[in-house]
Amino acid sequence: MRAAYITGYGDNSVVGYGPEALIDVRAASVNPVELAFRAGEFQASVPFAFPKVMGFDVAGVVISAPEGAAFKTGDEVYARLPSRQLGAFAERAVVPVDLLAFKPRTLSFEAAASLPTVALTTWQAFIERAQLAQDERVLIQAGAGGVGAFAIQLAKHLGAHVVATGGPGSQARMAELGADQTVDYTHQRFEDFGPFDIVYDGVCGPLIERGIDALREGGRYIGLVRVADARSYREAGLPAAIAEQAAAPIQPLIERATARGAFFHGPLTRPDGAQLAAIAQVIDDGAIRATVSKTYRFEQLAAAYDDLATGHTSGKIVLVP
Ligand SMILES: NC(=O)c1ccc[n+]([C@@H]2O[C@H](COP(=O)([O-])OP(=O)(O)OC[C@H]3O[C@@H](n4cnc5c(N)ncnc54)[C@H](OP(=O)(O)O)[C@@H]3O)[C@@H](O)[C@H]2O)c1
Repeated sequence: MRAAYITGYGDNSVVGYGPEALIDVRAASVNPVELAFRAGEFQASVPFAFPKVMGFDVAGVVISAPEGAAFKTGDEVYARLPSRQLGAFAERAVVPVDLLAFKPRTLSFEAAASLPTVALTTWQAFIERAQLAQDERVLIQAGAGGVGAFAIQLAKHLGAHVVATGGPGSQARMAELGADQTVDYTHQRFEDFGPFDIVYDGVCGPLIERGIDALREGGRYIGLVRVADARSYREAGLPAAIAEQAAAPIQPLIERATARGAFFHGPLTRPDGAQLAAIAQVIDDGAIRATVSKTYRFEQLAAAYDDLATGHTSGKIVLVP
């Protein structure tokens, strides 16, 4: 299916045209940021028309794809949809072909749908931003969550020494995922396991400054929650001056990291079909497992969101039509 669209408000610079595939959705997964979308937190930057079909992460079968695309009818694929589009929680989804990749062949649709956001987020953080090197010491905050479970495994695959944090009920699970050391945040301090080359923070809030201070010189702090930096906003399409302005609140954190000879990163996940293809290869090689903890049907989305809102789910929650 070919489509013409606008990517935001403006003049013809926002007009786009591109090939899109129609997907028969077999599974999708929920992500915590959807709770913020639902609450209207991003309505200025990402305005919705209602009813809005939610969902970033999708796995399914191609119903139709444009001629000449790398995908054809019947192919099994997975993708992350852009924030401005969403639409994974429906029987059919429209996906720009450059965001699609073949589903890992060793995974079910449910397992594949659990991956796109957590895998792309972590891939971009470790490989593009932090350039994680072998034998580096990596702290993963919230190691039992959706992002953390993937991050423990990718960091180990890249040769890091991994320290992961979680509550008492998450310790065994993080060790089983491959963490070399686990920290119970109810009675231990992660600083006692440092210093770290990389702090990958899926909790943030009061842990940010402590995470930065636990870095060694040359270390990289990567925060995932409400600390996006100017680079992320530019990559999301904001003009440079507006991106700088949007990222102004994190300037003290950048300065805190700089003062230690370290770096502060606040990435926002970018959809990317080519990276999902590389991730599928790692999965099919057996280096990383998907972590589906619970499956709901589309009509149970409210219950899935209630689970996610506890902040203490393990792995990923999947939805099926
Ligand atoms: N910047 C981006 O583009 C981006 C991309 C993806 C995700 N994110 C954000 O990253 C965060 C994590 O995402 P997620 O999908 O992994 O969430 P999640 O699956 O809901 O995370 C739940 C996990 O957090 C752990 N946890 C809660 N409080 C903790 C604490 N104080 N210390 C250590 N662990 C703690 C829980 O372990 P216990 O049950 O043991 O407490 C649980 O396993 C979310 O806020 C999400 O919105 C941002």
